Amino acid sequence: MSKYKVGYLVGSLSSTSINRLLSKALIRVAPTELELVEIPIKDLPLYSQDHDADFPPVARAFKQAIADVDAILFVTPEFNRSIPGGLKNAIDWASRPWGQNSFARKPSGVIGTSPGSIGTAVAQSQLRGVLCFCNAPLMNTVEAYIQFKPGLITEDGQITDESTADFLRNYMNELHAFIVRVLTVLPRVT
Ligand code: FNR
Repeated sequence: MSKYKVGYLVGSLSSTSINRLLSKALIRVAPTELELVEIPIKDLPLYSQDHDADFPPVARAFKQAIADVDAILFVTPEFNRSIPGGLKNAIDWASRPWGQNSFARKPSGVIGTSPGSIGTAVAQSQLRGVLCFCNAPLMNTVEAYIQFKPGLITEDGQITDESTADFLRNYMNELHAFIVRVLTVLPRVT
C-alpha cells in the first residue's frame, strides 16, 4: 500500500478557527494511505519581490515543507467573499521566485467552512483560479462547502453529525484517488 503525505494549509490565523477544527476532522476521516501534516502560514511576513534574491529562512522553510509533501490540501475560510489575506500571502511566497513555483504539478484540494449557508463557495472559487495559474492539478469534484453549526465538530475533531462525517470521509477518499491518479502520470521529481 502506497502512502502519501498531504500538507494542509489552514487559511485562518484565528486561535479559535473553525477551519482548524475542520482540518482536525479531516485527519480523523482520512483513509490510512494519507498522512496529513500541517504547513503553517502564520509566521510568514508580507511578501514582496524585494525578497526574491534572498528569501528569509521562514519562507525557505515554508517552500521546503511544500516540496516535502506529495499533495496540498487548502482548508480555508472566506473573508469578504474572497481568499483570506494571510493565505493569499502564503501562496504568493510559495509561487516565487519566478521559475521556482512550489505548486507546479502538486496535486491539490480545496475545502472550507463558514457559518454562512454557502460555506466559503466564493473564496474557494477564487482560490481555484489562483491555483490554476500556479499550475497545481486541482481536484474538481468533490466540492465541499461546509456550513458550520455550533458543535458540528468537537475540539478534538470528532464530527457529531453522521451525514457530514460520511461526506467528509468520501471527500478524503476522493482526494486520495485524485492524488494517485495525478502522481501516476506526473511522478514526483525528488
Ligand atoms: C468573515 N466571515 C465571512 N463568512 C462568509 O461566509 N463569507 C464572507 O465573506 C465572510 N467575510 C468575513 C470577513 C472577515 C474579515 C471575517 C473576520 C469574517 C465570517 C467567517 O466565516 C467566520 O468568522 C469564520 O469563523 C472564519 O473562519 P475561521 O477563521 O474561524 O476558520
